[in-house]
Amino acid sequence: MFLHLQDEGYNGNKLSGRARGKAATLIYRFKSIMQKVDLSVTLCSIPLRNPTILASGILGTTRALLKRVAENGAGALTIKSISTEPREGHNNPTVITFEAGMLNAVGYSNPGMHAAAREFSDLQEIGVPVIASVIGTEHEDFMRVVEGLSKIQFSAIEIPLSCPHTPGFGLLSGQGTPESTFKITSLVRKATKLPIFVKLSPNSPELCTAAKAAEDAGADAITAVNSMGPGMAINIDAQRPVLGFKVGGVTGDALRPIAVRCVYDLYKAVKIPIIGVGGISTGRHAIEMMMAGASVIGIGTGVYYRGIDVFRKVSEEMALWLQKNGYNTFRDIIGVVHD
Ligand SMILES: Cc1cc2nc3c(=O)[nH]c(=O)nc-3n(C[C@H](O)[C@H](O)[C@H](O)COP(=O)(O)O)c2cc1C
Repeated sequence: MFLHLQDEGYNGNKLSGRARGKAATLIYRFKSIMQKVDLSVTLCSIPLRNPTILASGILGTTRALLKRVAENGAGALTIKSISTEPREGHNNPTVITFEAGMLNAVGYSNPGMHAAAREFSDLQEIGVPVIASVIGTEHEDFMRVVEGLSKIQFSAIEIPLSCPHTPGFGLLSGQGTPESTFKITSLVRKATKLPIFVKLSPNSPELCTAAKAAEDAGADAITAVNSMGPGMAINIDAQRPVLGFKVGGVTGDALRPIAVRCVYDLYKAVKIPIIGVGGISTGRHAIEMMMAGASVIGIGTGVYYRGIDVFRKVSEEMALWLQKNGYNTFRDIIGVVHD
Protein backbone atom coordinates (compact mmCIF):
# COMPACT_ATOMS: atom_id res chain seq x y z
CA MET A 1 0.00 0.00 0.00
CA PHE A 2 2.77 2.44 0.88
CA LEU A 3 3.92 2.76 -2.69
CA HIS A 4 7.14 4.51 -3.49
CA LEU A 5 5.83 7.29 -5.69
CA GLN A 6 9.31 8.20 -6.95
CA ASP A 7 9.53 4.69 -8.42
CA GLU A 8 6.14 5.19 -10.02
CA GLY A 9 6.87 8.42 -11.84
CA TYR A 10 6.19 11.02 -9.15
CA ASN A 11 8.22 14.09 -10.11
CA GLY A 12 7.65 16.19 -6.99
CA ASN A 13 4.72 18.17 -8.43
CA LYS A 14 2.36 15.81 -10.14
CA LEU A 15 1.90 12.13 -10.83
CA SER A 16 2.50 10.67 -14.26
CA GLY A 17 -0.45 8.85 -15.90
CA ARG A 18 1.08 5.49 -14.99
CA ALA A 19 1.63 6.49 -11.36
CA ARG A 20 -1.92 7.90 -11.15
CA GLY A 21 -3.34 4.61 -12.42
CA LYS A 22 -1.23 2.60 -9.98
CA ALA A 23 -2.20 4.89 -7.08
CA ALA A 24 -5.90 4.57 -7.96
CA THR A 25 -5.65 0.77 -8.07
CA LEU A 26 -3.87 0.68 -4.73
CA ILE A 27 -6.38 3.05 -3.12
CA TYR A 28 -9.23 0.89 -4.44
CA ARG A 29 -7.51 -2.28 -3.14
CA PHE A 30 -6.84 -0.61 0.22
CA LYS A 31 -10.46 0.57 0.55
CA SER A 32 -11.75 -2.94 -0.10
CA ILE A 33 -9.35 -4.32 2.54
CA MET A 34 -10.51 -1.70 5.08
CA GLN A 35 -14.11 -2.67 4.34
CA LYS A 36 -13.44 -6.30 5.22
CA VAL A 37 -11.48 -5.69 8.42
CA ASP A 38 -13.44 -4.22 11.33
CA LEU A 39 -11.26 -1.92 13.41
CA SER A 40 -14.08 -0.43 15.48
CA VAL A 41 -14.15 -1.21 19.18
CA THR A 42 -16.11 -0.33 22.29
CA LEU A 43 -13.90 0.55 25.25
CA CYS A 44 -15.85 0.73 28.55
CA SER A 45 -19.03 1.64 26.61
CA ILE A 46 -17.16 4.27 24.54
CA PRO A 47 -17.39 3.55 20.80
CA LEU A 48 -14.08 4.08 18.95
CA ARG A 49 -13.71 3.94 15.17
CA ASN A 50 -10.33 2.24 15.60
CA PRO A 51 -8.21 1.13 18.59
CA THR A 52 -5.53 3.88 18.46
CA ILE A 53 -5.50 6.50 21.22
CA LEU A 54 -3.34 9.62 21.52
CA ALA A 55 -1.32 9.15 24.76
CA SER A 56 -1.34 11.90 27.38
CA GLY A 57 1.28 14.65 27.16
CA ILE A 58 1.65 14.47 23.39
CA LEU A 59 -0.26 17.18 21.46
CA GLY A 60 -3.13 17.11 23.96
CA THR A 61 -2.63 20.69 25.10
CA THR A 62 -5.23 22.59 23.05
CA ARG A 63 -8.56 21.88 21.40
CA ALA A 64 -7.12 22.83 17.99
CA LEU A 65 -4.34 20.27 18.31
CA LEU A 66 -6.79 17.59 19.43
CA LYS A 67 -8.84 18.29 16.33
CA ARG A 68 -5.80 17.88 14.10
CA VAL A 69 -4.94 14.54 15.69
CA ALA A 70 -8.54 13.38 15.24
CA GLU A 71 -8.37 14.39 11.57
CA ASN A 72 -5.28 12.23 11.29
CA GLY A 73 -7.05 9.06 12.29
CA ALA A 74 -6.89 8.63 16.08
CA GLY A 75 -9.73 6.60 17.56
CA ALA A 76 -9.65 8.64 20.79
CA LEU A 77 -7.52 11.37 22.35
CA THR A 78 -6.06 11.95 25.81
CA ILE A 79 -5.34 15.49 26.93
CA LYS A 80 -2.12 16.57 28.66
CA SER A 81 -2.40 15.93 32.42
CA ILE A 82 -4.12 18.71 34.38
CA SER A 83 -3.55 19.76 38.02
CA THR A 84 -5.64 22.03 40.25
CA GLU A 85 -3.24 24.99 39.82
CA PRO A 86 -1.15 26.02 36.79
CA ARG A 87 2.35 24.51 36.67
CA GLU A 88 5.41 25.71 34.80
CA GLY A 89 7.13 22.32 34.77
CA HIS A 90 10.85 21.66 34.54
CA ASN A 91 13.46 23.87 32.85
CA ASN A 92 14.46 23.27 29.23
CA PRO A 93 15.53 21.07 27.62
CA THR A 94 12.58 18.92 28.65
CA VAL A 95 12.52 16.45 25.75
CA ILE A 96 15.42 14.86 23.87
CA THR A 97 15.73 11.89 21.54
CA PHE A 98 18.27 9.07 21.52
CA GLU A 99 18.77 6.08 19.24
CA ALA A 100 15.96 4.02 20.75
CA GLY A 101 13.36 6.60 21.75
CA MET A 102 12.98 9.68 23.91
CA LEU A 103 13.88 11.00 27.33
CA ASN A 104 11.50 13.56 28.79
CA ALA A 105 11.16 15.49 32.00
CA VAL A 106 8.41 17.95 31.16
CA GLY A 107 7.35 18.18 34.80
CA TYR A 108 3.60 18.30 34.16
CA SER A 109 3.52 21.85 32.80
CA ASN A 110 -0.16 22.70 32.36
CA PRO A 111 -2.51 25.70 32.71
CA GLY A 112 -4.45 24.32 35.71
CA MET A 113 -8.02 23.08 35.82
CA HIS A 114 -9.83 26.42 35.39
CA ALA A 115 -7.95 27.37 32.20
CA ALA A 116 -8.23 23.76 31.00
CA ALA A 117 -12.01 23.87 31.51
CA ARG A 118 -12.12 26.96 29.25
CA GLU A 119 -9.79 25.49 26.62
CA PHE A 120 -11.73 22.23 26.33
CA SER A 121 -15.19 23.77 26.83
CA ASP A 122 -16.49 22.56 23.49
CA LEU A 123 -15.35 19.10 22.53
CA GLN A 124 -18.25 18.44 20.16
CA GLU A 125 -16.34 19.56 17.10
CA ILE A 126 -13.45 17.14 17.74
CA GLY A 127 -15.54 14.22 16.49
CA VAL A 128 -13.86 11.46 18.53
CA PRO A 129 -13.92 10.71 22.28
CA VAL A 130 -11.61 12.82 24.44
CA ILE A 131 -10.16 11.47 27.70
CA ALA A 132 -9.20 13.86 30.53
CA SER A 133 -5.97 13.20 32.40
CA VAL A 134 -5.98 14.40 36.01
CA ILE A 135 -3.10 14.65 38.48
CA GLY A 136 -2.51 15.85 42.01
CA THR A 137 -0.06 15.87 44.86
CA GLU A 138 -2.63 15.11 47.56
CA HIS A 139 -5.07 12.22 47.11
CA GLU A 140 -8.02 14.66 47.22
CA ASP A 141 -6.51 16.78 44.41
CA PHE A 142 -7.46 14.14 41.85
CA MET A 143 -11.07 14.45 42.93
CA ARG A 144 -10.90 18.27 42.84
CA VAL A 145 -9.62 18.30 39.26
CA VAL A 146 -12.32 15.84 38.19
CA GLU A 147 -14.89 18.15 39.77
CA GLY A 148 -13.26 21.22 38.18
CA LEU A 149 -13.58 19.60 34.75
CA SER A 150 -17.02 18.08 35.36
CA LYS A 151 -18.88 20.44 32.99
CA ILE A 152 -16.68 19.39 30.05
CA GLN A 153 -17.85 16.55 27.84
CA PHE A 154 -14.96 14.21 28.40
CA SER A 155 -15.63 10.55 27.66
CA ALA A 156 -13.40 9.14 30.43
CA ILE A 157 -10.95 10.13 33.15
CA GLU A 158 -7.38 8.85 33.19
CA ILE A 159 -5.40 9.05 36.42
CA PRO A 160 -1.64 8.66 36.01
CA LEU A 161 -0.08 7.37 39.25
CA SER A 162 3.18 6.64 37.57
CA CYS A 163 5.26 9.66 36.45
CA PRO A 164 8.97 8.92 37.18
CA HIS A 165 10.34 12.48 37.13
CA THR A 166 8.02 15.02 38.78
CA PRO A 167 8.52 15.58 42.53
CA GLY A 168 5.24 15.35 44.44
CA PHE A 169 3.53 13.26 41.75
CA GLY A 170 3.43 9.65 40.61
CA LEU A 171 6.33 7.40 41.52
CA LEU A 172 8.19 10.18 43.35
CA SER A 173 5.40 10.41 45.92
CA GLY A 174 4.38 6.76 46.09
CA GLN A 175 1.03 7.21 44.33
CA GLY A 176 1.37 3.90 42.48
CA THR A 177 1.51 1.63 45.54
CA PRO A 178 -1.50 -0.68 45.82
CA GLU A 179 -2.70 1.26 48.91
CA SER A 180 -2.50 4.72 47.29
CA THR A 181 -3.88 3.40 44.02
CA PHE A 182 -6.89 2.08 45.90
CA LYS A 183 -7.43 5.36 47.82
CA ILE A 184 -7.02 7.67 44.82
CA THR A 185 -9.18 5.53 42.55
CA SER A 186 -11.91 5.30 45.22
CA LEU A 187 -11.97 9.11 45.59
CA VAL A 188 -12.19 9.65 41.85
CA ARG A 189 -14.86 6.94 41.63
CA LYS A 190 -17.01 8.97 44.05
CA ALA A 191 -16.48 12.15 42.02
CA THR A 192 -17.52 10.88 38.58
CA LYS A 193 -19.72 8.43 36.73
CA LEU A 194 -17.38 8.47 33.72
CA PRO A 195 -15.16 5.46 33.05
CA ILE A 196 -11.87 5.68 34.97
CA PHE A 197 -8.56 4.52 33.49
CA VAL A 198 -5.69 4.11 35.99
CA LYS A 199 -2.26 4.59 34.41
CA LEU A 200 0.50 2.54 35.98
CA SER A 201 4.29 2.44 35.90
CA PRO A 202 6.50 -0.14 34.18
CA ASN A 203 8.95 0.34 37.07
CA SER A 204 6.58 -0.95 39.68
CA PRO A 205 7.42 -4.31 41.28
CA GLU A 206 3.78 -4.22 42.46
CA LEU A 207 2.28 -3.57 39.04
CA CYS A 208 -0.31 -6.36 39.14
CA THR A 209 -1.25 -5.77 42.78
CA ALA A 210 -1.71 -2.07 42.07
CA ALA A 211 -3.84 -2.88 39.02
CA LYS A 212 -5.97 -5.22 41.11
CA ALA A 213 -6.33 -2.47 43.75
CA ALA A 214 -7.50 -0.08 41.00
CA GLU A 215 -9.99 -2.66 39.74
CA ASP A 216 -11.30 -3.26 43.27
CA ALA A 217 -11.72 0.50 43.78
CA GLY A 218 -13.87 0.83 40.68
CA ALA A 219 -11.46 1.50 37.80
CA ASP A 220 -12.86 0.57 34.39
CA ALA A 221 -9.53 0.04 32.60
CA ILE A 222 -5.79 0.03 33.22
CA THR A 223 -3.49 2.14 31.06
CA ALA A 224 -0.13 0.40 30.88
CA VAL A 225 2.36 1.98 30.81
CA ASN A 226 3.76 5.42 31.60
CA SER A 227 7.39 6.25 30.77
CA MET A 228 10.07 4.12 32.45
CA GLY A 229 13.13 5.05 34.44
CA PRO A 230 14.15 7.72 34.99
CA GLY A 231 17.13 7.60 32.65
CA MET A 232 19.88 10.09 31.90
CA ALA A 233 21.80 11.31 28.85
CA ILE A 234 25.08 13.20 29.24
CA ASN A 235 26.54 15.77 26.86
CA ILE A 236 30.18 14.64 27.07
CA ASP A 237 31.51 17.84 25.50
CA ALA A 238 29.68 20.07 28.00
CA GLN A 239 30.25 17.42 30.69
CA ARG A 240 26.68 17.86 31.95
CA PRO A 241 23.42 15.92 31.82
CA VAL A 242 21.40 17.05 28.79
CA LEU A 243 17.94 17.42 30.35
CA GLY A 244 17.20 20.50 32.43
CA PHE A 245 15.96 18.19 35.21
CA LYS A 246 19.00 15.92 34.63
CA VAL A 247 16.86 12.73 34.54
CA GLY A 248 13.73 11.87 32.59
CA GLY A 249 11.30 9.14 31.55
CA VAL A 250 12.30 6.73 28.77
CA THR A 251 9.71 6.20 26.01
CA GLY A 252 9.59 4.81 22.48
CA ASP A 253 11.33 1.70 21.10
CA ALA A 254 13.41 1.14 24.26
CA LEU A 255 10.22 0.92 26.32
CA ARG A 256 8.26 -1.45 24.06
CA PRO A 257 9.51 -4.86 25.31
CA ILE A 258 8.95 -3.75 28.91
CA ALA A 259 5.46 -2.43 28.08
CA VAL A 260 4.53 -5.65 26.25
CA ARG A 261 5.64 -7.70 29.27
CA CYS A 262 3.65 -5.46 31.65
CA VAL A 263 0.50 -5.87 29.54
CA TYR A 264 1.09 -9.63 29.37
CA ASP A 265 1.28 -9.83 33.18
CA LEU A 266 -1.70 -7.51 33.69
CA TYR A 267 -3.88 -9.54 31.31
CA LYS A 268 -3.67 -12.43 33.79
CA ALA A 269 -4.11 -10.20 36.85
CA VAL A 270 -7.24 -8.13 36.07
CA LYS A 271 -10.55 -8.59 34.28
CA ILE A 272 -10.93 -4.98 33.11
CA PRO A 273 -9.55 -3.95 29.69
CA ILE A 274 -5.95 -2.83 29.25
CA ILE A 275 -4.88 0.17 27.16
CA GLY A 276 -1.41 -0.87 25.96
CA VAL A 277 1.04 2.03 25.65
CA GLY A 278 4.79 2.09 25.12
CA GLY A 279 6.88 2.18 21.96
CA ILE A 280 4.07 1.63 19.47
CA SER A 281 4.63 3.27 16.10
CA THR A 282 3.63 0.59 13.57
CA GLY A 283 0.74 -1.77 12.98
CA ARG A 284 2.97 -4.72 13.89
CA HIS A 285 3.79 -3.10 17.25
CA ALA A 286 0.07 -2.57 17.89
CA ILE A 287 -0.72 -6.19 17.07
CA GLU A 288 2.12 -7.40 19.32
CA MET A 289 0.66 -5.35 22.20
CA MET A 290 -2.80 -6.78 21.56
CA MET A 291 -1.48 -10.34 21.45
CA ALA A 292 -0.03 -9.63 24.92
CA GLY A 293 -3.53 -8.64 26.06
CA ALA A 294 -4.27 -4.98 25.23
CA SER A 295 -7.81 -4.19 24.05
CA VAL A 296 -6.74 -0.87 22.53
CA ILE A 297 -3.38 0.88 22.20
CA GLY A 298 -1.93 4.32 22.94
CA ILE A 299 0.66 6.16 20.88
CA GLY A 300 2.95 8.92 22.14
CA THR A 301 6.55 8.96 20.93
CA GLY A 302 5.41 7.38 17.65
CA VAL A 303 3.94 10.77 16.69
CA TYR A 304 7.48 12.18 16.66
CA TYR A 305 8.92 9.30 14.65
CA ARG A 306 6.15 8.82 12.06
CA GLY A 307 4.24 12.10 12.05
CA ILE A 308 0.83 13.24 13.23
CA ASP A 309 -0.86 10.74 10.89
CA VAL A 310 0.78 7.81 12.72
CA PHE A 311 -2.74 6.85 13.89
CA ARG A 312 -3.97 6.40 10.32
CA LYS A 313 -0.77 4.59 9.35
CA VAL A 314 -0.95 2.21 12.31
CA SER A 315 -4.65 1.48 11.64
CA GLU A 316 -3.99 0.81 7.96
CA GLU A 317 -1.04 -1.42 8.73
CA MET A 318 -3.07 -3.34 11.31
CA ALA A 319 -5.89 -3.83 8.80
CA LEU A 320 -3.46 -5.12 6.18
CA TRP A 321 -1.80 -7.54 8.59
CA LEU A 322 -5.15 -8.84 9.83
CA GLN A 323 -6.48 -9.29 6.34
CA LYS A 324 -3.31 -11.06 5.20
CA ASN A 325 -3.53 -13.40 8.18
CA GLY A 326 -7.21 -14.22 7.74
CA TYR A 327 -8.78 -12.13 10.52
CA ASN A 328 -11.91 -9.98 10.10
CA THR A 329 -11.33 -8.14 13.38
CA PHE A 330 -8.41 -7.51 15.72
CA ARG A 331 -10.57 -8.63 18.63
CA ASP A 332 -9.67 -12.24 17.76
CA ILE A 333 -5.99 -11.67 18.50
CA ILE A 334 -6.32 -10.05 21.94
CA GLY A 335 -4.33 -12.16 24.41
CA VAL A 336 -3.67 -15.01 21.93
CA VAL A 337 -0.14 -15.59 23.19
CA HIS A 338 -1.47 -16.68 26.58
CA ASP A 339 -1.67 -20.46 27.10
C1 LIG B 1 6.99 14.51 26.05
C2 LIG B 1 6.13 13.57 26.84
C3 LIG B 1 5.21 14.09 27.75
C4 LIG B 1 4.39 13.23 28.49
N1 LIG B 1 3.49 13.75 29.37
C5 LIG B 1 2.63 12.92 30.02
C6 LIG B 1 1.59 13.45 30.84
O1 LIG B 1 1.41 14.65 30.98
N2 LIG B 1 0.77 12.56 31.47
C7 LIG B 1 0.90 11.21 31.33
O2 LIG B 1 0.10 10.46 31.90
N3 LIG B 1 1.86 10.69 30.54
C8 LIG B 1 2.71 11.49 29.88
N4 LIG B 1 3.67 10.97 29.06
C9 LIG B 1 3.77 9.50 28.91
C10 LIG B 1 2.99 9.03 27.67
O3 LIG B 1 1.62 9.30 27.78
C11 LIG B 1 3.20 7.51 27.43
O4 LIG B 1 2.68 6.79 28.52
C12 LIG B 1 4.67 7.17 27.26
O5 LIG B 1 5.29 8.14 26.45
C13 LIG B 1 4.87 5.79 26.62
O6 LIG B 1 4.31 5.73 25.33
P1 LIG B 1 5.19 5.98 23.98
O7 LIG B 1 6.38 5.07 24.05
O8 LIG B 1 4.23 5.67 22.86
O9 LIG B 1 5.59 7.41 24.01
C14 LIG B 1 4.51 11.81 28.32
C15 LIG B 1 5.45 11.30 27.41
C16 LIG B 1 6.25 12.17 26.67
C17 LIG B 1 7.23 11.58 25.67
